Amino acid sequence: MKRIAVLSLLVFAITKIFGQTNIDSLKPDIKVVEHISFYDNDLLSNEFHADRRQVLREKMPDSSVALVFAYPVQNRSNDVDFEYHQNPNLYYLTGLIEPHALLLIFKEKQDFDSIKTDEIIFVQPRDSSREIWDGKRLGAEGVKSKLDILHAYENYIFADFLIDFSRFNHIFSDLPSGDFTDDKRNRGDLASLVKHFHIKIDTLQNKLDRHFLREVFADLREIKQPEELVLLRKAIDITCDAQKELMRALLPGMKEYQAEAIIEYIFKNNGAEYPGFPSIVGGGENSCILHYTSNRKTLTWDDMLVVDIGAEYHGYSADVTRTLAVDGEFSEEQKTIYNIVLEAQQAGINVCKKGNKFWQPGDEARRVVSQRLLKLGIISKEKQSRQYFMHGTSHYLGLDVHDVGLYGNLKPGSIITVEPGIYIPKNSPCDPKWWNIGVRIEDDILITEGRPEILSDCVPKTIEEIEALMKEESLFNKMDQKSE
Ligand code: GLY
Ligand code: MN
Repeated sequence: MKRIAVLSLLVFAITKIFGQTNIDSLKPDIKVVEHISFYDNDLLSNEFHADRRQVLREKMPDSSVALVFAYPVQNRSNDVDFEYHQNPNLYYLTGLIEPHALLLIFKEKQDFDSIKTDEIIFVQPRDSSREIWDGKRLGAEGVKSKLDILHAYENYIFADFLIDFSRFNHIFSDLPSGDFTDDKRNRGDLASLVKHFHIKIDTLQNKLDRHFLREVFADLREIKQPEELVLLRKAIDITCDAQKELMRALLPGMKEYQAEAIIEYIFKNNGAEYPGFPSIVGGGENSCILHYTSNRKTLTWDDMLVVDIGAEYHGYSADVTRTLAVDGEFSEEQKTIYNIVLEAQQAGINVCKKGNKFWQPGDEARRVVSQRLLKLGIISKEKQSRQYFMHGTSHYLGLDVHDVGLYGNLKPGSIITVEPGIYIPKNSPCDPKWWNIGVRIEDDILITEGRPEILSDCVPKTIEEIEALMKEESLFNKMDQKSE
């Protein structure tokens, strides 16, 4: 660390004295002892990322440059940070999962003294004293050899990097939002990369466009490439396994967090790095809270349990919801509400077809819910269904659980969720026999040239199927997880 700080100071001093110079002379002579080795052999390939960079380049207009920054490191408290999450756009283009990086893509090849290239990446340097604490880094050499991005440099070089942005007609940026710390001793951290970008484009604000890349990434990421589909299917299969194991293991007396623990054990044990979002495991009154994540209640025999979960595998997140009767047998009221949601979901899935509007599954599902609730006397006008079904049914799925996309017509290769729900909290203006019933059913749907493919149909969904699976034994039942 100190060595690098001293070297970068030296570089800075030399530059100040002799003016800006070429890239190679800016590089301190850091000996790279070893490269990080990846432990997984099913990551997205370098060819995938190179292809995505090329497709982005093709979408850019003449004489343009795109800058994609890493996401900031988020501090949790004092000297503890949250687990790092890369900007999905930068991951999509490079596979890099380290912070303090900046990728530049040029429409046309550019001359920089000794090199001619249409892409350059700046990354955090190797630093043996930091790597002891935070883990191995790729460094510029590792990015070249492991990620196959040939023009890679240490991030502190960007400050003095001679690039004349006035030569471009368009400057497109994907800049992190929010506040992030500026380590004053580090000329290459994210804050410095952003600061020096602004210095370099000082008088060129009229060329800066922050919207273009948002649109382009929505367009690109909406359609999944075959390699992405492999990872998404894996994330979904792991999530289905977790749902099934919980169905076997669930018993009255368990805590919501114990149900969550079973789910996340299955995630981790199958190689998923994280849950793609905080697991929603809500029983009884909590089944009526849409994004309930505290998961502390003791489950009772008459509770409905909403289990809305998704494993994240190599960046790609699943999102699958099932609703269970905690004692393994749905009451008449629970069955009635459950089957309305199931019928609504099927109506939504039926219209997940190429060319249909993104919102059509939601409209179909709402029509079913409105008509059925009216017939049961739970509402007196169809439009009151919003009181009990207060959300849309669909979002794209991919590198983000609520993934980017254009939200126009459905296209083959995109994956959307269909997740209607009915939530009737206590004291709702209807017969109390319906109170505290919350039901959501969610599947992940691949839009194809023909019929929709339900990627998450590996987990039971009808009441009969769920009740049958809940009768099976689970290994977790041997653990001390029920208090009766
Ligand atoms: N899985 C949570 C949501 O879709 O909002
Ligand atoms: Mn969802």
